[in-house]
Amino acid sequence: MNSLVVYDSQFGNTEKIAQRIAETLAAYGKARAVRVTAVEPNAFDAIDLLVVGCPTQAWNSTPALKNFIADLDNAKLKRLRFAEFDTRFDKPRWLTGSAASKLENQLRRLQVTSLVAPASFFVTANEGPLAAGELERAADWANELYDTFHAQCEPVAVPM
Ligand SMILES: Cc1cc2nc3c(=O)[nH]c(=O)nc-3n(C[C@H](O)[C@H](O)[C@H](O)COP(=O)(O)O)c2cc1C
Repeated sequence: MNSLVVYDSQFGNTEKIAQRIAETLAAYGKARAVRVTAVEPNAFDAIDLLVVGCPTQAWNSTPALKNFIADLDNAKLKRLRFAEFDTRFDKPRWLTGSAASKLENQLRRLQVTSLVAPASFFVTANEGPLAAGELERAADWANELYDTFHAQCEPVAVPM
């Protein structure tokens, strides 16, 4: 399973989560994290899983991530599996909003069903740092992504 993690980040916290997700997914195939403003046209070649994430800002995803998804062509939307994450405050979601949920809704409107439920990782203040244990939780989430992908998408080898 080859993965691309495309992220936006104002203060660097979402970037740290994106990098930990990519490092974890690298155990299962090629994987790297790329800032949304630096995604090259050939970045999707041989990619199976596209993970998108950004900070929650004003209850929403960032314009850059929104535009990135809006610009994905139909072939990519059909071929790739998707998962979404955000960073935000550790308060009830109805209070904070969630960029990841917004990204999931945006993808759903494009007829894409996400591989797993969107994930939120918590910061302790606007500029961070991340709350204790969030990088480990990001690694756990990445492993869950692989397990789900493997269960749904990869053929089971039948012993001869
Ligand atoms: C302009 C702005 C709006 C924000 N709005 C929200 C919000 O609606 N809900 C929330 O939980 N956090 C909000 N935050 C906190 C961000 O989620 C936090 O800055 C972010 O997780 C840090 O990630 P980054 O370092 O990748 O930018 C806001 C931060 C900024 C700067």
